[in-house]
Amino acid sequence: MIKGFLFDLDGVIVDTAKYHFLAWKRLADELSIPFSENDNERLKGVSRMRSLDIILELGSLNLSEPVKEELASKKNAWYVEYITNMTPDEILPGALEFIQQAKTKDIKIGLGSASKNAMTILERLKITNYFDAIISGNEVSKAKPDPEVFLKGAEALELAPEECLVFEDAKAGVEAAVNGRMKCVGIGSKDVLGAADAVVEGLAAISVTAALNV
Ligand code: G6P
Ligand code: MG
Repeated sequence: MIKGFLFDLDGVIVDTAKYHFLAWKRLADELSIPFSENDNERLKGVSRMRSLDIILELGSLNLSEPVKEELASKKNAWYVEYITNMTPDEILPGALEFIQQAKTKDIKIGLGSASKNAMTILERLKITNYFDAIISGNEVSKAKPDPEVFLKGAEALELAPEECLVFEDAKAGVEAAVNGRMKCVGIGSKDVLGAADAVVEGLAAISVTAALNV
């Protein structure tokens, strides 16, 4: 029986991809690397350092670790500038209502995000208090599709993995849920998220009751 929901953040509760894109694009321009919105799709759900590696690959650039660290920090400083101005009206359609509905059914709510900025984003959206557990990129060492982030989430909610349902928009995230023996609702397209137990366009398109029955 499902007793807890574990939400990915970026692409499920809020669309931060546009801010990641602005910051990565600024860095890519500085490095004279061509980087399009289409390339940005490949960075969804991917960690900061891996994202940088993908961009450097696009420009066939091979840089040392210290230089890469510096570039990632630079990108993050720009990204933080952008998200600092976020407001609650950037919560994706239906997300808040879905979480509130789950709360009325005594379902525990957890966050499982690869982002080290997850806390800042939740604060800006004014939804931190809805979460019984928050696992962000600061608490994990293995990136999705490793299930670590969701397993830690389940543990923090004091639930078994089988009692948790994951909501994910990235292929690697759906795989992380499957690898953690959890059921998963994919947010996005069936072509990409076929491994999920159900796929919907967004949280506005599914009720808590329907989610509990996937
Ligand atoms: C999420 C996003 C990725 C991002 C990652 C790390 O998974 O979908 O695009 O690279 O978080 O975010 P951070 O805020 O730590 O750089
Ligand atoms: Mg995501």
